[in-house]
Amino acid sequence: MTAELIKGKDIAALIRQEIKTEVDKLKTKNIIPGLVTILVGADPASESYVRAKQKAAHELGFHSIQENIDASISEADLLALVEKYNNDPTIDGILVQLPLPKHIDESKVLIAINPDKDVDGFHPVNVGRMVTGQPAFLPCTPYAVQQMLIRSGVQTEGAHVVVVGRSNIVGKPVANILIQKAAGANATVTVCHTRTKDMAKHTRDADILIVAAGVINAVTADMVKPGAVVIDVGVNQIGMTESGKRKLVGDVDFGPVSEIASKITPVPGGVGPMTITMLMQNTLEAAQKRK
Ligand code: GUN
Repeated sequence: MTAELIKGKDIAALIRQEIKTEVDKLKTKNIIPGLVTILVGADPASESYVRAKQKAAHELGFHSIQENIDASISEADLLALVEKYNNDPTIDGILVQLPLPKHIDESKVLIAINPDKDVDGFHPVNVGRMVTGQPAFLPCTPYAVQQMLIRSGVQTEGAHVVVVGRSNIVGKPVANILIQKAAGANATVTVCHTRTKDMAKHTRDADILIVAAGVINAVTADMVKPGAVVIDVGVNQIGMTESGKRKLVGDVDFGPVSEIASKITPVPGGVGPMTITMLMQNTLEAAQKRK
């Protein structure tokens, strides 16, 4: 292995220290950041993500509430629950874990969240603010990717960033964040997706390759330029460990790619812990703006 590991776990620990310092300052003004996570149904992956978000909030001294809602909840009742927290002055951030059961219109629920409490950055108002370069809650995974690049000294300005995947949660927002005329951005961005012709031609031209395809081995060594920085956003479960934890791999063929990349993120321990940390950062920022 020649590539240097970009250890999301270590960067996350550093940012969590910074957040803790700010939380202590807020507490002297009697403000405690408040986060509610709403989980509808019992999808094991969603349960595991929400548990990790609650644990992080608890460790940072946030006021945190976990709502476990039966999958049979009506759309109207879920909207009413969101409205309850929109009106709760102790809550700064509202997160509705996705995906939702099929009978509920996800976009209706996301639009119901007050944009000033939308710490997930999924509300169209925040998406619009992000695209036009105004202050916004950035969606947590793309925000995490940008922070990992900045904090590991990767120059994005003028770099060719190639994104594999065009999801609303990762691909589209990360491309938008990195093309901004701003520090930690100013990149030239190409977005590849399932209809891209000759994907390897594009990925081989990347100085920074961000992979969020949701497919194991979507990127193999022959698709990577020697010396490129590779950020693997993929989380694919390949079984369970003996201790009952989910066994995970990313979207990148890690072993061979780490022989030619200059820097690479591991899975697990890469983007995952950073994503949760940026959710905490957004919740802190919401609390700092509390009237
Ligand atoms: N499901 C997968 N990723 C996310 C996320 O970042 N936020 C929410 N709310 N749901 C998700």
